[in-house]
Amino acid sequence: MGIKYFPEHQLFVLDAADCTYAFMVHPRYERLVHLYHGPHLGGGDVIKLFNYDTSPRSQSTIPPGGNPRDGSLSNLPQEFSSFGCGDFRRPSAQVRTPDGFNVVDAKYVAHRIFGGKPELPGLPASFAADDEAETLEVTLRDDVTDVEFVLAYSVFDKLPVIARSIRAVNRGNAPVTVEKLASLTLDYRSGIRLDLVSFPGGWTRERRPTRERVNPGIREFASNRGLSSHQSNPFFILCDPETTEDHGRAWGQMLVYSGNFLAEIERDQYDMTHVQFGLNPERFSWKLDPGETFQSPEALTAFSAAGFEALSRTFHDFLRRHVIRRTQVLRHRPVVVNNWEATRFKFDEEKIVDFARRAASLGMDMLVLDDGWFGHRDESDSSLGDWVVYKEKLPSGIAALAKRIRALGMEFGLWFEPEMISPDSDLYRAHPDWCLHIPGRPATLGRNQLVLDMGRPEVVDHIFDAMSSLIGEASINYIKWDANRQFSEVGSAALPPDRQGEAAHRFMLGTYSLLRRLLDRFPELFIEGCAAGGGRFDAGMLYYTPQIWTSDDTDAVERLFIQYGTSFGYPPSAMSCHVSAVPNCHVGRVTPLATRGDVALMGAFGYELDPATLGPEESAEVRRQIAVAREDEHLMLEGDFYRLGSPLADNLSGWQIVGKDKREFIVTAVRILSRPNPSHDWLQLRGVDADTVYRDLDTGECFSGAFLIHVGLYFPIVKADFTSFRRRFRAEEK
Ligand code: GLA
Repeated sequence: MGIKYFPEHQLFVLDAADCTYAFMVHPRYERLVHLYHGPHLGGGDVIKLFNYDTSPRSQSTIPPGGNPRDGSLSNLPQEFSSFGCGDFRRPSAQVRTPDGFNVVDAKYVAHRIFGGKPELPGLPASFAADDEAETLEVTLRDDVTDVEFVLAYSVFDKLPVIARSIRAVNRGNAPVTVEKLASLTLDYRSGIRLDLVSFPGGWTRERRPTRERVNPGIREFASNRGLSSHQSNPFFILCDPETTEDHGRAWGQMLVYSGNFLAEIERDQYDMTHVQFGLNPERFSWKLDPGETFQSPEALTAFSAAGFEALSRTFHDFLRRHVIRRTQVLRHRPVVVNNWEATRFKFDEEKIVDFARRAASLGMDMLVLDDGWFGHRDESDSSLGDWVVYKEKLPSGIAALAKRIRALGMEFGLWFEPEMISPDSDLYRAHPDWCLHIPGRPATLGRNQLVLDMGRPEVVDHIFDAMSSLIGEASINYIKWDANRQFSEVGSAALPPDRQGEAAHRFMLGTYSLLRRLLDRFPELFIEGCAAGGGRFDAGMLYYTPQIWTSDDTDAVERLFIQYGTSFGYPPSAMSCHVSAVPNCHVGRVTPLATRGDVALMGAFGYELDPATLGPEESAEVRRQIAVAREDEHLMLEGDFYRLGSPLADNLSGWQIVGKDKREFIVTAVRILSRPNPSHDWLQLRGVDADTVYRDLDTGECFSGAFLIHVGLYFPIVKADFTSFRRRFRAEEK
């Protein structure tokens, strides 16, 4: 690891674990020219990448004082691309000045290199000890507007990841308005043909990988829904057209942010690919008074020379080491039973206690009481914002209920939807202007609710007080944090007209501050994220909530697809996965309990069903699953994840989680449909040591690693749909 500066060329070389990232100050234009991002390059070779592109081209726009031989800004790979000054590609920034223009053209001023990784004020961001990371900050300045852009790059000692962000500082005497500030700009030089893998989806079918060629023109995907959204995820991969799970180059980009974002991937006339990734400029602007700073969210860019599998493991390790809180990431995950799918809003105290009693007898660890315990909430049409117990349902109150449940040997967790407000709530009646809204415009409802204006400190204070008094009083150490609607009429009663564009980002900053304050007040509190299932599954939330409810769809077959897609960027420990009842409430499918268990055992494991409905055989199966979850928890939390095949392409697909020392692993496979007269299925394993002998702990049979890699495990033919197969292996002593 290390960041080097070579003054003779004003060259920056960032060595991040297994990769090199390089750029330099253009000797005449003073803009930052991107040179390289890929496997380590020998010595001084990287400088050869400069000047490959000097032939004058027709219609080139040459900066004032420039030489046509130096080419146009529009053809130079750059670290920060200007707007309105002859670079026609999507810009890194747009800043409007009082004269009405929003041109940006920033040149190198200075840089500094230091140990460690700074926090980003108010935002989630990667962290590292001073000896684990090094940071470079390069200051660029637009001389006309006096706005500075400080580009930050951090490299980490053990992983090929670079954390990037930009802050804009108004050094002038007049206010300016930031209209766009991407977190990262990436340029791939001519001749690098690329595919794009992105993760679009919808409610109950989140993050389905989609691969396409990067063709001439601009391909965008975005969220303008307030949350990072079910529909797109702030994560994507660019790769060689030949890249597979275990071969080829892949560059992954992930935003540490949970709100609106935009990814722009542009292939130009010279086959260069130009990327901008960061806050979505739609509905965004941020006024900067003289001396003020605006900080962009952080983006993570990772590189793999060995396909998607290695890229995924890099992100998994990075999120676990440098994004998710160290005190929480490896924390024991209780086997949860959540009452939502079993009861919806129809429960009372005795039913919940009975539920918990039965769950305890099956060996479950924690009851999470979901929606419907507060205000007078019997449906989704009231009470959000009124975080006081619904006495008719729960007459003893939350603290006493928690105590009764603990007396059964179960822990107690509680659902909140802190950022929302129902029009039918005491909070709304007292403060009708505390929601996002535009005066004079009727408010669009989503799931019968409105969105709180979390950018207002008094709103955050109020919700903090309500939540913390309940959490304190009932000694709650686990909450599920939901957010069930996307934003419309995004306006704030607390902002003047020239700051209305700030409302959505201020919302996110307020939400982050609430999360931070709760975690500071209750260091033992563990928060599971959720947003109508997986509608805000991103690295920003993972900074505060080490696991996230992956999807409202708990059907085992649908979950194969959802968890497969999610695994490209996010580790198993981040995916909350529960076994639910059949027929599944979303698709009507009936899958075996064992398969539901095996699929849910990929991540943080639990149940979403009424224990009273289980017969003796099912109860025995549940007890078995819980024992397995406990035994293999360390692998789920820390192991190396490998995808075996893809449910998108194969009838049989699975995954492996291998201990870091390769001494143990689990392998799971699911055959979706039974086929007549079938061929034999062998599952070739990954990530095991060829020279080690592994024992199948269920059957006692031993296999060499080489056999498992080159031949594989045989998956017996079963005449039934949706069958699964899970095995645990341990290395024999040598
Ligand atoms: C969302 C969540 C569910 C459940 C309901 C409660 O849909 O994703 O798990 O908590 O809200 O209303």
